[in-house]
Amino acid sequence: MKRRIKNNVYWVGKVDWELQHFHGFEYSTHKGSTYNAYIIDEEKKVLIDTVWSPFAEEFVENLDQEVGLSSIDYIVINHGEVDHSGALPLLMKHIPDTPIYCSANAVKSLRGQYHQDWNFQVVKTGDRVSLGNGKELIFVEMPMLHWPDSMAAYLTQDNILFSNDAFGQHLATDHLFNDQVDQCDLFNEAIKYYANILNPFSPMLKKKLEEIAALNLPIEMIATSHGVIWRDNPRQIVEKYAQWADNYQENQITIIYDTMWNGTKQLAEKIAAGIREADQEVVIKVYHLAKSDEADLITEVFKSKTVVLGSPTIYNSMLHSMAGFIQLLKQLRFKGKKAAAFGCYGWSGEAVKQMTELVEKAGFTIISEGLRSQWNPDEGAEQAAVGFGKNIATS
Ligand code: FEO
Repeated sequence: MKRRIKNNVYWVGKVDWELQHFHGFEYSTHKGSTYNAYIIDEEKKVLIDTVWSPFAEEFVENLDQEVGLSSIDYIVINHGEVDHSGALPLLMKHIPDTPIYCSANAVKSLRGQYHQDWNFQVVKTGDRVSLGNGKELIFVEMPMLHWPDSMAAYLTQDNILFSNDAFGQHLATDHLFNDQVDQCDLFNEAIKYYANILNPFSPMLKKKLEEIAALNLPIEMIATSHGVIWRDNPRQIVEKYAQWADNYQENQITIIYDTMWNGTKQLAEKIAAGIREADQEVVIKVYHLAKSDEADLITEVFKSKTVVLGSPTIYNSMLHSMAGFIQLLKQLRFKGKKAAAFGCYGWSGEAVKQMTELVEKAGFTIISEGLRSQWNPDEGAEQAAVGFGKNIATS
């Protein structure tokens, strides 16, 4: 349903209340999501982005009834990923010649996905298109935020930045604006989105935020492509992004372990006790990897100054859950964080050394050679784990 966000600008997206997983099964979306598309209805009528392909028919039908497909003069595709471009193939069957403004890389991604040669109009940072009534759209390329094709569009006079994925949250809500939703939900989803989607590109993000600030564009509203639109103090999310992009950490130590017969779990709890003995203030969180949601764990890693990883040894190595998780840590390119490893073993005990090597290659600073405990931890092994925890707390 078409809903006004400001003057002649309308939301025409889709709320996906049921979405539980995104990017296949890589990212959990416990609170659903939205695919935000917008219509600017000036002398020229512009559609900004579309919705995910399962909702294409509904989207195009609504757009026809509420806006009129043939009245759309331009389409802007800020990013080619299917959650925003998925309705294009159906839409373009109705209005095949309509110009599509997008980045050069978006042409590649749209052609690659849909194998169509639509009327692409390639734009780069600073390019403008006039919408009449004295208003213009100004384009800002946002490469690697989070795809090479990503860009944003800024609407003059209304001072709205259509930021696409940047500043978004996977949060299904019938409200459109940031001041209308539960603030804990909003910021929990915003930081999870940053940690899981944008963290690898933090150095580029820092530069891009500076570049946008240098353009001196007044920004009264940030209209993202997922979740709510930032209208109440939109600078607050820009400031959060500046903090998050700067090797973010809180006073938190997170222990993440997997276990076969609970020996490694026993060590995890003693390590936590040791950390607490040495530091009464630090936030300690303990997670059983196999029972936890990995995207949520990544958010906890993002908030941590130190991560302690545990796995028993099996077949001369660590549990494959831990190997996969460390690979995820590597992909997300965390910086400025410390790590240590621990685990039980019966015979050969290679896991701790291997975890330590892998997590160091993933960019973490190793603060200990690790803690190994043969067979089930006895009182001596438990005391060693407490001591290991104390050492972690003070390193
Ligand atoms: Fe929301 Fe990169 O797609």
